[in-house]
Amino acid sequence: MSNPTRRAAIVTGAAGGIGGAIAARLEKDGVDVLAVDLDPDVTGRGPAPHGVPFAADLTTRTGNESAVRAALDEFGRLDMIVANAGFQHVSPIAEFPEDRWDSLIALMLTSPFLLAKYGWSALRTAPEGGRFLVIASAHALVASPYKAGYVAAKHGALGLVKTLALEGAEHGITACAICPGYVRTELVQRQVAAQALAHNMSEERVLEDVILAAQPVKRLIEPEEVAELASFLLGPHGRSFTGVPVSMDQGWTAR
Ligand SMILES: NC(=O)c1ccc[n+]([C@@H]2O[C@H](COP(=O)([O-])OP(=O)(O)OC[C@H]3O[C@@H](n4cnc5c(N)ncnc54)[C@H](O)[C@@H]3O)[C@@H](O)[C@H]2O)c1
Repeated sequence: MSNPTRRAAIVTGAAGGIGGAIAARLEKDGVDVLAVDLDPDVTGRGPAPHGVPFAADLTTRTGNESAVRAALDEFGRLDMIVANAGFQHVSPIAEFPEDRWDSLIALMLTSPFLLAKYGWSALRTAPEGGRFLVIASAHALVASPYKAGYVAAKHGALGLVKTLALEGAEHGITACAICPGYVRTELVQRQVAAQALAHNMSEERVLEDVILAAQPVKRLIEPEEVAELASFLLGPHGRSFTGVPVSMDQGWTAR
């Protein structure tokens, strides 16, 4: 229900993982959240546990447009957009499936663009300044082999954020990217299990020797830690952060 005194947010990929933690944290901050994710029947994850659940396929234009419209219909305003939904595909370049490439770019680069485009006029009128936040990755700053689609999409999303920061400055809109190292979510759990099978190694060894090889600190970040940073960047003390990647990568990009 519309409440003109509360800020309103769209969080994508909010059925679990980092997006779920951000939706929960923003609710604690008193923000109304439209929790966008694929249809729960498709993901098998159930509806988003925090916020007002809204089903949309964000690899489509209509999915992004309907999410922005739903937020405005539900809350009567839109103060912040958190473009978080994403997935990984690991494959050598010569075998990289073209459809997976298209989906990676559609979800992690084109969807943030469309959400910004469709939500821009609402962000411009946000009383405390509009906020646009992408949950990017250390892979927005550095590459790894076999992750061409993911790395390209994340680098592109950082370019989008920089552009939005320049365009948003005169309208009080900030745009930032959080760039985490590995976070304890299904996305990583799936990679650990697949690599353990492929290399005939224990999951513990895969985690330390393969997945976290690039991170000097051998620890997974918890989704709530990312949510805490998002809450800061989206709150009043985050207003000076714009056009920048905010790294949270356990020393990965210090090398
Ligand atoms: N987990 C990590 O280690 C890590 C590290 C750095 C960055 N990230 C980024 O953080 C974001 C969230 O990742 P996560 O680890 O929480 O993953 P996750 O798999 O736990 O959650 C991703 C969510 O996105 C949703 N989603 C997928 N395709 C969608 C579509 N077409 N339309 C709508 N929703 C869709 C999924 O249903 C899922 O709920 C991603 O952009 C990811 O690249 C994750």
